Order: sequence, then C-alpha cells, then structure tokens
Amino acid sequence: MKLIIFCLYVFLYFNCIGGTIYLPKNVSVPAIIAFGDSLLDVGNNNYITTMTKSNFLPYGKDFVGGKPTGRFSNGKTLADFFAKALGVKEYVPAYLNPFIKEKDLLTGVSFASGGTGYDPLTATLSSVIPVSIQLDMFKQYIWRLKSMVGEENVKNIINNSVFFVSSSSNDFLVNYYSVPMRRLQYDVPAYSNLLVKLAVSFIQDLHKLGARRIVVFSAPPLGCIPIERTLAGGSERKCVDKYNKAAILFNRKLKEHLHSLEKSLPQSRIAFSDFYNPLISIIENPHKYGFEVADQGCCGTGKLEMSYLCNELSATCQNDSSFFFWDSLHPTEKGCDIFTKIVLPDLVKSLF
Ligand SMILES: *[C@@H]1O[C@H](CO)[C@@H](O)[C@H](O)[C@H]1NC(C)=O
Ligand SMILES: *[C@@H]1O[C@H](CO)[C@@H](O)[C@H](O)[C@H]1NC(C)=O
Ligand SMILES: *[C@@H]1O[C@H](CO)[C@@H](O)[C@H](O)[C@H]1NC(C)=O
Repeated sequence: MKLIIFCLYVFLYFNCIGGTIYLPKNVSVPAIIAFGDSLLDVGNNNYITTMTKSNFLPYGKDFVGGKPTGRFSNGKTLADFFAKALGVKEYVPAYLNPFIKEKDLLTGVSFASGGTGYDPLTATLSSVIPVSIQLDMFKQYIWRLKSMVGEENVKNIINNSVFFVSSSSNDFLVNYYSVPMRRLQYDVPAYSNLLVKLAVSFIQDLHKLGARRIVVFSAPPLGCIPIERTLAGGSERKCVDKYNKAAILFNRKLKEHLHSLEKSLPQSRIAFSDFYNPLISIIENPHKYGFEVADQGCCGTGKLEMSYLCNELSATCQNDSSFFFWDSLHPTEKGCDIFTKIVLPDLVKSLF
C-alpha cells in the first residue's frame, strides 16, 4: 500500500515501476533488445551445440520455480533488470526459444550468446553465436514483427526501443590471453583498436536497421574476475594488473569512438556504460554495497567453476545474496540488481 501511494505521488513527475523510478515521464520504452555475451544471454545457448551452457542446476536455483533457464546466474540477469527498470517487462526471453509468445516478441528479446565477442574468432573458439549472426537474427526478428503488426508500427518500436550490447570480455580472456593466434598478430593497443573498430561497425549496422538508443557496456576489470585471479593472480589471487590495464585502454578508446559515433549517426543516443569503475568499487568495498564476498564465486570453490564445472554436484555458498559473483565469472542476481541501480540514472540521462 505504501508503495502504491508513493507511486501515485511520483507519477506526477516520473513513471514508477515497482518503486524503482528511472524514466522521465514523457518517455516510454516499447521494447528492450540485447546483443552480445553471457551478461545478456538469457538462454540462447540452450539451443546450440556448445560447452558454454548454464541450463542446469545450480544455475537458476533462485529463478521463478527454482528453474535453470540458460541465464548465467542463480536468478535474473542484467537483461531482466534493465527491462524492468525501463518499464518494459520482468523477464527478457531468448530469441531462439521456440515457444516465445507474440507479446513477448513485441516487447523485446535477447540475441546474446554466452562466450561470444566482437572478434569472430572468439565465437569460433567457444562454438557460440557470433555477433554478426546475432544481427542476422535481428533482421529476421524485424521481419517477423512486420508480419505481426505492420511496417509502420515496427519502425516505431525499433526507433524507440533501448538496445544493449555487451561484448569484449571473452575477446580478451578466452581469445587474446588464452590462445596464441591473436597475440602473434597484435599487441594489446592494436587488438583494442581492432575490437573498437568492430564494435563501431556493429553499432553502425544496428543504426542502419533502425536502432536509435544504444547502450554499450565497457569491459569489466578483467583481472579481478575470480577465475582470472585463480589462473594468473599468484598464490594470493590478486587482481591481474595486466588484464585490468588492457580493459582500461580498450574502454578509453571505446568511449572516445562512441562519442564521435553518436555525433555522426543521425538521431542516435549512444551511451557508454562503464562496467569497470563500478565493479572495482564493489570489489574494493563489498560491504558498502551489501556484499560479504567479491573475490570468488558462490558456486563450488568459487575459484574456477563455471558452465559445466558449476553443476549439480557443486556445493554452493550459504547465502548467494552476500556474494557479488555467482560462478567464477558471472554476477549473482543480487550483483546484477546492484549494478543496474548504480548505472541506470546516468544511462537514462544519456539516452533520453
Ligand atoms: C521529454 O521532455 C524533456 C523536457 O521537456 C525534453 O527535453 C525531451 O526531449 C523529451 N523527450 C522526449 C522523448 O519527448
Ligand atoms: C525516433 O527517435 C528519435 C529520437 O531518438 C526521435 O527524434 C524521432 O522523432 C523518432 N521518430 C519516430 C518516427 O518515432
Ligand atoms: C544474506 O545476505 C544478505 C546480504 O549480505 C543479507 O542481507 C541477508 O540477511 C542474508 N540472508 C540470510 C538468510 O542470512
């Protein structure tokens, strides 16, 4: 009841969604559409042949019905939290889900595929969906929408939707630092340039297809991800400086290029969403954000397990709300919730 009164009160100024207010009142977002990697994958990898999967317990143990969905989390992921905060819906479906309902198509889907990157070699290494194919799926999606509600309506939906793109972590961690091929061709600055070039061209393609409001995630502090601490952080599992520096460099270049891209693409609002500094802040001060642990995951030992290594035989931590990381790579539902709350006010300012 208190919430309802609160909502009525603020409705004069803002849209109020479940007590979380993020949108200016004259704005409504018809759909959210996601591309990229496991941070935004909500189950597309369930439908392809790959080792990068999460459609088994304990993944999803805190999801509705305690059910694994292919989200790389104990519950909801970033795509869901953003959809809710923008007033669209509670859960974002995976485009490859054959049982997807018409209404759900109209309010947006995710094309993201855990393990992918901007560099096509990254998707090949993990046998997952390259971002170029995700764009093809998006074209098919537009065509399906047109057959449902007609061309004019679809134009409107796409024009006013918010697009999210999350990529680059796997380019560095699964590709550049794990297999020699790219390291022989590029040093870190040159590889960062390549990734930025690919990101820019991806966004240009999205814009050609009608996207106007686009959020692009930066790289996280790659060296502080639990599995990287274990593999390269020494006996104390320190953050790997070299990886963090690569992320900082890539992020700086990405931010610059997105800024000029926004100026060059008509009517576009392109938001660089910093994933680096908010995460560093959480990792250095977990208590400030309501976490107890931010240097290991909740699943198994928390130091190595993810995908098939985090499975029904893995013990989990007692209270996953006190962990920022769910497995050795991905945030918990609580982690996603807190991150969304940190970044959304700025994102909304840049988008509307
Ligand atoms: C919403 O209103 C603000 C302030 O009047 C204006 O600057 C902005 O362009 C409006 N946004 C839309 C999408 O109409
Ligand atoms: C499309 O969105 C832009 C803002 O991003 C707005 O200026 C324009 O009027 C919109 N066009 C239509 C047809 O909705
Ligand atoms: C789990 O952890 C969260 C965050 O630290 C805390 O608020 C909550 O009370 C804990 N729940 C239990 C059952 O201990």
